[in-house]
Amino acid sequence: MAIESVMHENRVFNPPKTLSENAYVKNLEEYQQLCDAAEADYEGYWGNLAKNLIEWKKPFTKILNEDDAPFYKWFDDGELNVSYNCIDRHLPNKKDKVAIIFESDDGQTTEVTYQELYEKVCQFANGLKTLNLNLGDRVIIYLPMGIEAVVAMQACARIGLTHSVVFGGFSAKSIQERVIDAGAKLIITADYQNRGGKELPLKTAVDDAILLGGCDSVEKVIVLNRTGKEAALKENEIDWHELCKNQKEECEPVWVNAEHPLFLLYTSGSTGKPKGVQHSSGGYLLHAINTTKWTFDLKDDDIFWCTADVGWITGHTYVAYGPLALGGTQIIFEGVPTFPNAGRFWEIVQKYKATIFYTAPTAIRALIKASESDEAVHPKSFNLSSLRILGTVGEPINPEAWMWYYENVGSSKCPIADTFWQTETGGHVITPLPGSTPLVPGSCTLPFPGIAIDVVDETGQNLEWGQGGLLVIKKPWPSMIRTIWGDPERFKNSYFPNELGGKLYLAGDGAVRDAESGYFTIMGRIDDVLNVSGHRLGTMEIESALVANDLVAEAAVVGRPHDVKGESIIAFVVLKSDRPNPEKATEIVNELRAWVGNEIGPIAKPDEIRFGDNLPKTRSGKIMRRLLRSIAKDEEITADISTLENPAILDQLKQKV
Ligand code: WTA
Repeated sequence: MAIESVMHENRVFNPPKTLSENAYVKNLEEYQQLCDAAEADYEGYWGNLAKNLIEWKKPFTKILNEDDAPFYKWFDDGELNVSYNCIDRHLPNKKDKVAIIFESDDGQTTEVTYQELYEKVCQFANGLKTLNLNLGDRVIIYLPMGIEAVVAMQACARIGLTHSVVFGGFSAKSIQERVIDAGAKLIITADYQNRGGKELPLKTAVDDAILLGGCDSVEKVIVLNRTGKEAALKENEIDWHELCKNQKEECEPVWVNAEHPLFLLYTSGSTGKPKGVQHSSGGYLLHAINTTKWTFDLKDDDIFWCTADVGWITGHTYVAYGPLALGGTQIIFEGVPTFPNAGRFWEIVQKYKATIFYTAPTAIRALIKASESDEAVHPKSFNLSSLRILGTVGEPINPEAWMWYYENVGSSKCPIADTFWQTETGGHVITPLPGSTPLVPGSCTLPFPGIAIDVVDETGQNLEWGQGGLLVIKKPWPSMIRTIWGDPERFKNSYFPNELGGKLYLAGDGAVRDAESGYFTIMGRIDDVLNVSGHRLGTMEIESALVANDLVAEAAVVGRPHDVKGESIIAFVVLKSDRPNPEKATEIVNELRAWVGNEIGPIAKPDEIRFGDNLPKTRSGKIMRRLLRSIAKDEEITADISTLENPAILDQLKQKV
């Protein structure tokens, strides 16, 4: 590896010496040794980490089981409990250490120690045990960001229930689809969530989901009263506090097999409905711990803050599991970065002296914009000197935003971990390690030690560095997706396609390695998945939502680059009736946006909708999305349109409503 060559570039930022000296991985030699160790004895490498980082009830004797590839199993005769590993094992030495500092939307602070968290989790788990649930039953969690969300996840883990968290911004329809797909027996929700000074109802969305029908698997609904408002509960509904009252503050963990499904998390693919990504207990926990340790260098006196909601994978691995398993102290924030003003993140960092801060490029870009016109919300107006490591996740970070983050938030002394990973990978797969990796803005740098990342062409052949291609992972790794819930065929076809030989994990992103250093740059999705403000959405999902509306005959959705959100959503719609006049068009646009908000959630509302008598199609009837992307960007169309059935349609679709 010719990493030295990167160091000669002018835009290279080396780790600060004091950080390197004390980091878990201190320099590139140590990094390379870890990679070499994995290369020399792949199973031994992971096996050692699993032995050292996890407390097993019953030690595993087998590391990787490939008998049923690509349905790989890791440590599969070992037994453990994830909640025990996140909480109980810290009690002998750290019971009074603060585990979570919670800041509510309105600025109130609540802290829980490891002992208090233990008691809360045990009481809730004991409550759950009274509900006639069995090992592996699925539980939908639809809660605001807060201590209870973590308690609910940990309590499920404690007694072997498989949770599936649904982001609070998803609609009733999305909840219903997930309940049905997962066959959930229980839903855990709250009356309201508070965000940006507003009270947003959650429980009514659950009610509506059940009214939509098909949710017969649901036996009980637990409701957390977040606001203190009186609410009448139906027969099968239980108040969270009632359930916990009189429950014992200890609860023996249920020891599960390492492959026991810890959770399902639904995420968008290029086709069909969101898929339930199934994760294991042992392998997932291992990578959650190991990446929190090496990527964030999390130490005992750190104050860690990952701003992601538990509704996303980042909020699973780097809020609910990783930091706790390491016995760390973390901040959890209920609100939004711009309320009461765009200085909120910096105020929280200052108030609690956060040392590690992990957020999404879209938030950074929004805060850059806001601070341009208002000095009071600029990071320089706050004391952020406690920070030592920064991170980003979810989408490519443009070098300009990277530099702003580095200089203004990190005062040019905090390494930025640009972490590339996915719901399916469970944890980081390409990322700098703060004490060892020289940084180049816009590059997520090098593979996490042990993860066999590469770039190949469409037939699965290796590409030379410098050539763009498909990002793949060549060997199974412990925290990988195990299957798509209820659809093993889709799992195989989506991630281990025959076109690439059936053995490579296909990430779905394009990537290129720097010709000299081998540093990775992610070039974005190669499929029809959009990344809007770091949220993953399938174009097909939005199209299906649109055509479910009575007015709509046909729809095609594409992404358009957006300077804050990364991408915005543009929909081209053919109505069943004639193309509307301008006044009517505005009305229909509003109606369709609200409709998509109800079908999926506000994050999926198209930013722009245009109407045509038809869509640009080839003679064989395929929609030419490439043309639609150009039209959405107001680009001159230079592509060959000779195969287009109806070229006249292009001019029509150029017209905005
Ligand atoms: C994108 C989020 C560039 C990528 C953890 C991936 C990134 C998708 C980065 C997964 C990054 C994530 N640089 N692109 N550092 N991190 N992505 O499942 O397209 O919500 O495939 O997981 O986000 O999104 P997901």
